[in-house]
Amino acid sequence: KKVKLIGAPSCFGQPRLGVDLGPDAIRYTNLVGRIKSLNVDIKDLGNIEAEKINVEIHSKEKNDNLRNLEEVIKFNEKLAKQVDEVVENGDFPFIIGGDHSIALGTLSGLSKHYENLGVIWYDAHGDLNDSKTSPSGNIHGMPLAQALGIGHEKLVNLYEDGVKIKPENVVLIGVRDLDEGEIEYIKENNILCFTMDDVARLGIGRVMEETVSYLKDKTDGIHLSLDVDGLDPQFTPGTGTPVVNGITLRETNQALTYLHDQDVISSFEIVEVNPLLDEKNKTAEVATYIAEVFFGKKYL
Ligand code: ARG
Ligand code: MN
Ligand code: MN
Ligand code: MN
Repeated sequence: KKVKLIGAPSCFGQPRLGVDLGPDAIRYTNLVGRIKSLNVDIKDLGNIEAEKINVEIHSKEKNDNLRNLEEVIKFNEKLAKQVDEVVENGDFPFIIGGDHSIALGTLSGLSKHYENLGVIWYDAHGDLNDSKTSPSGNIHGMPLAQALGIGHEKLVNLYEDGVKIKPENVVLIGVRDLDEGEIEYIKENNILCFTMDDVARLGIGRVMEETVSYLKDKTDGIHLSLDVDGLDPQFTPGTGTPVVNGITLRETNQALTYLHDQDVISSFEIVEVNPLLDEKNKTAEVATYIAEVFFGKKYL
């Protein structure tokens, strides 16, 4: 399988500028060269073309508690098409963001190729809001809900036949900042959720084993959506919504080594790297390191 790298420079899902520069900040760490040196065949397809950002109003517009709805839709339609084409070709989509609203485009593009797509959501947040439960109106806090069929009709049915992930095929890992409505949704739908307390109690090794055995037999592919704020801000400070008490880099290394060795992931995205909030591109460096581990980097 060939890896096809897709840059998704969206900042529309949240109010802070700079997360749209994430894909290039990650590329500048020599992402492609470093993955190639693992003997992985990777090709950079470049960036999805984004609507022009209106700096004056970007952080202000908030129509019906869905900030920049039209821009989010337009962007994710293009991303969905690109992801669809990559899978159609038999290749492995690797998407770098961009705010987490891009997961909607990714999952919409993947959806038509899988009957039972599994989703691992590695994140401090659930991203399970809709416009009614969201405290912010930021669509990056909503993509998993839409992937499950909840929310604005235009988002759920963004691409072709729409996106419909089943709640029993979703696993959340690293969660430590949930809104009221998200907690209700998780409980009502019995979503498997490893909070930070579970990671501390079980250890990341056990969490990953349980995640894979839970998903493996009932799914025909597993998408890994990794929000860098799942890690502790000491490792990934360059992100818009950091939350204390996160997953360590060592635990993340262990988690992704396990996923690589199990060979169960069929698509991968890393999101929420914002170089304007970063310290000397540290967060992009960590993102690239995570990608190296995922694609098979070993010390010996
Ligand atoms: N739950 C909060 C909200 O809905 C924060 C979401 C953060 N999401 C993210 N992808 N960083 O606004
Ligand atoms: Mn998050
Ligand atoms: Mn997220
Ligand atoms: Mn290997």
